[in-house]
Amino acid sequence: MISADSRRVVGLIQQLEVAVIVARFLVPQRWVLGGVALGVVLLPVVGAAQSAPDKQVTFTKDIAPILQRSCVTCHRQGEMAPMALMTYEDARPWARAIKTRVTSREMPPWNIDHTIGITQFKNDPSLSDAEIAMIAKWADAGAPRGNAADMPPLRQFADANEWQIGKPDLIIKYPAYKVPASGPDLFGNLYADVPIAKDRYIKAIQTRPANAVSRKVIHHALSYSVDDPAVEATGDDSAGVDGGQFLVEYASGKNAEVYPEDSGVLLQAGKKAMVSYHYHSIGEETSAELELGMVLYPEGYVPKHIRWSKQLAQPTADLDIPGGTVARIDGYTILHSPARILSFQPHMHIRGKRQCLELIYPTSGASAKTEMVSCANFNYNWHLNYTYADDAAPLVPAGTILHTISWHDNSTVNKANPDPKNWVGDGQRTIDEMGFAWIGWYDLTPDEYKAEVAARKASQQKPKTTQQQQQQQ
Ligand code: HEC
Repeated sequence: MISADSRRVVGLIQQLEVAVIVARFLVPQRWVLGGVALGVVLLPVVGAAQSAPDKQVTFTKDIAPILQRSCVTCHRQGEMAPMALMTYEDARPWARAIKTRVTSREMPPWNIDHTIGITQFKNDPSLSDAEIAMIAKWADAGAPRGNAADMPPLRQFADANEWQIGKPDLIIKYPAYKVPASGPDLFGNLYADVPIAKDRYIKAIQTRPANAVSRKVIHHALSYSVDDPAVEATGDDSAGVDGGQFLVEYASGKNAEVYPEDSGVLLQAGKKAMVSYHYHSIGEETSAELELGMVLYPEGYVPKHIRWSKQLAQPTADLDIPGGTVARIDGYTILHSPARILSFQPHMHIRGKRQCLELIYPTSGASAKTEMVSCANFNYNWHLNYTYADDAAPLVPAGTILHTISWHDNSTVNKANPDPKNWVGDGQRTIDEMGFAWIGWYDLTPDEYKAEVAARKASQQKPKTTQQQQQQQ
């Protein structure tokens, strides 16, 4: 289990800062291989384009498959993105804007640094450098349509009004929120009761807008299980560490989670459900309504693996970010049992710039081993949860320290900064700051840990067939 007795380890950690810089160059080869494979599996088209550089890039043959894979989850009728990118007619007027947004890697939203640490994720929509170059070439060539026969079939989406998790055992409705016809984006939290008498384990979970018009104004929504805010205000700063548990995210296209066989997330009785929302105006006053559906294990059943998701590696000192500066803050949490780390989600506010997650492995007298597993740029518009692929998720021994490094940019360089002249410190408001990570993990017994490490080694020695890789997607 985890406790956040971070202050005790700070002394040790300060000696290790140099290791952070070194670790950047020590990315193990095994993390990298899978990422390359992913590109090959999902986009055979890239290989073809590279081998014939002078061939014309066309929408139907080259661009549509990319948009279908990485864009239309949000860019289609009725979803929250401003325009559809399904057909040539949809995409043609946006060719230059598409080039700009993909070249800057603003679209699709996915801010993980591909050059550091783990590169295989379950939910990665991002484009390869070759795909970006191809889109740029297409736009520069006047966005040609190409041969109609090359057009891939358009992706079909499940009926948005149906629960993708099957019939929920529990549906929690968050309070409706009036989004005005126009105005700035709205951020905040809404709370709802969790009507269960005893703790239960969640088998599958989904957030969904309760109707079509809500779908247009809901940019994203993250659900948590939290202490009742009316009771919580104790001034105890450890409350943030154990008080909250991340449940599920809603953003277009990614909203249902069915946990692996015999694993589940604890839903505690007596807690509140909290949704952290980002709504935006669409030109008419709209009532935004969200609901959270869950399929539960039977009462009293405890699945073999309990998936935790908590705010860890909280900053070890108060945030102190003078106007006009970029500040760094570190946080630490010791894992007291072996674990499989499943996901990483940086949490900061408007000044958030970048966060890295480093593992500091336990040693007994020998020099410390560290590994930088993930770094992600941060944009408050997108709270992205990075879920590691099954054969890339870090397996760590008991005593491993999670180390987060967060950078906040309180200068004019940060375009989202509302007030670069003002000092910023800790706080709950959007204009205050935070710097921790939501970490998803399972605990493992020492035997399970050994078995998982052995299985990982064995799978890395065997060269994989394309088919096996495809099955893992
Ligand atoms: C998770 C949802 C999501 C995905 C996936 C996504 N977009 Fe977007 N996109 C948005 C939203 C929301 C906006 C409007 C807010 C903004 O501009 O950031 C947007 C804006 C844009 C714009 C700017 C439109 C304008 O008004 O100038 C372009 C161009 C764009 N997206 C292209 C793409 C492309 C190309 C892809 C895939 C490679 C993609 N997007 C994937 C949600 C998404």
